[in-house]
Amino acid sequence: MGALIFHPAAIFGALVLAISSIGFFPSVVIAYPGAITRHYTFDVRLQNVTRLCHTKSMVTVNGSFPGPPIYAREGDRLVIKVINNVNNNVSLHWHGIRQVQSQWADGPAYITQCPIQRGHSYVYNFTLTGQRGTFFWHAHITWLRATLYGPLIILPKHNVPYPFAKPYKEIPIIFGEWWNSDSEAVINQALQSGGGPNVSDAYTINGLAGPLYNCSQKQNETFKLKVKAGKTYLLRLINAALNGELFFSIANHSVTVVEADALYVKPFKTDIVVIAPGQTTNVLLKTKPHHQQSRFLMAARPYFTGTGTFDNTTTAAILEYYTTTTTTSKDHHAPLIRPTLPAINDTAYVANFTSKFRSLANDKFPIRVPQTVDRTFFFTVGLGTSPCPKNQTCQGPNGTKFAASMNNVSFVLPNTSMLQSYFFKKSNGVFTYDFPTSPLIKFNYTGTPPNNTMVMNGTKVAVLRFNASVEVVLQDTSILGAESHPLHLHGYNFFVVGQGFGNFDPKKDPAKYNLVDPQERNTVGVPSGGWVAIRFFADNPGVWFMHCHFEVHLSWGLKMAWIVEDGKLPNQKLPPPPADLPKC
Ligand code: C2O
Repeated sequence: MGALIFHPAAIFGALVLAISSIGFFPSVVIAYPGAITRHYTFDVRLQNVTRLCHTKSMVTVNGSFPGPPIYAREGDRLVIKVINNVNNNVSLHWHGIRQVQSQWADGPAYITQCPIQRGHSYVYNFTLTGQRGTFFWHAHITWLRATLYGPLIILPKHNVPYPFAKPYKEIPIIFGEWWNSDSEAVINQALQSGGGPNVSDAYTINGLAGPLYNCSQKQNETFKLKVKAGKTYLLRLINAALNGELFFSIANHSVTVVEADALYVKPFKTDIVVIAPGQTTNVLLKTKPHHQQSRFLMAARPYFTGTGTFDNTTTAAILEYYTTTTTTSKDHHAPLIRPTLPAINDTAYVANFTSKFRSLANDKFPIRVPQTVDRTFFFTVGLGTSPCPKNQTCQGPNGTKFAASMNNVSFVLPNTSMLQSYFFKKSNGVFTYDFPTSPLIKFNYTGTPPNNTMVMNGTKVAVLRFNASVEVVLQDTSILGAESHPLHLHGYNFFVVGQGFGNFDPKKDPAKYNLVDPQERNTVGVPSGGWVAIRFFADNPGVWFMHCHFEVHLSWGLKMAWIVEDGKLPNQKLPPPPADLPKC
């Protein structure tokens, strides 16, 4: 138990040399020169974990919180056997992995698979083609992601350098949330009552809340990053928090952003990183050559503009320089300087920060941005309400139930796998093909909200021809408060060609698009009270989930699915399901 302190270089070295398969160390089989198959066993089981003086039995992978990291290289195959030994149904998602020709391994429950039931297992088997960088894996059913998550790191192929100087060390920094109570009970209760769910008790860095909370001052509840002076460290930041979009900063240090969502960007310097759930950001931290002081606080706390309650606490870890003298003992008791973080609702900071991302877009890492589009979609994203069932009182706005939607459709998960029903041409009664390409009722999306805020429910998909070039404008609404929404698309990366505040203007805004070096990612924050335009080529057939990565909005229905049809060539077709695909 306790947090894992990752030593990536060491773990990876051990992987390549020795071949052990105890715990989460995978066994390795050479498949063909260079690329290998890495086998992992993920035993989903209960484990007692203590934080903030609360001990609880939680669902874990192999007993660890956060879950075990996965390391691989580009081109490798991952074979992860997930065995469910808990009462909850479970499915795992490999966030950001495109799953080309392995659509059945994507993981969202009821979208690409039925969940794995107690006593059953499923092997996620996929090859890491054309992708390298920082990813993560997490549960993709109910709120189990609260405890089921871990880093998934793909190093470049052997002898392929980073597009920046080789860092001295690489450290995953994974943000999460700590709940004293059972987060499954929290969301179930909230969906029953229609009210907003309780919020987490702390944010965590590598599973630890840090010294700024009551009852967490013990040494072993703070993540400590020990560094040498004058070296460059690659911090792989991952936001796995359920509902917290975070500001992160290290006192007296700035960092250089080099990668976002496992895609290289033109490097830029910053003191404060903004990272939404579902996003990853690689930053280079150059440690000071000399230092008066040896310990610095690194802290994260939320960015939030909505009207509901949220966890507004601050998690912290310690950056500590190794020292050769003994002068540090007094330094150890000196108060730690806290980094300055923007105000909780500092949308201007967020907008300025996100505008700095540009694809590397050079000879070695070229990009292919759709210059013209075959299909354009306009989706509103935001909150709404559902009627309160008769004979019940509801805790949502004005006695209704909270809901969320895209184009006013609050997505209802079916009780079977959509990919399976699609593949076997049995979608009748499971889903319909009529997801609206634009809102059926137009209104001033970011102005005064309409009187009727009721959503409609449905399991609707939007269909794309293979290889269509697609543009989607995601427009926030001010219904029940404008809020940022980290929208995540499965199966794809997309280019963020434009963004702005207020309502998207189809006449004026496209002229301002960046079609030269836009950032490419898999999760983009729809600005609070604004819009974002994304483009991609629909070159990966399958059923692909797109949703807000705030778990609370996901539960309320802020999600939809795409069907991308098969292409002509054999490798452009959805392959048949594996034999062990779970049954509902
Ligand atoms: Cu990281 Cu559909 O999720």
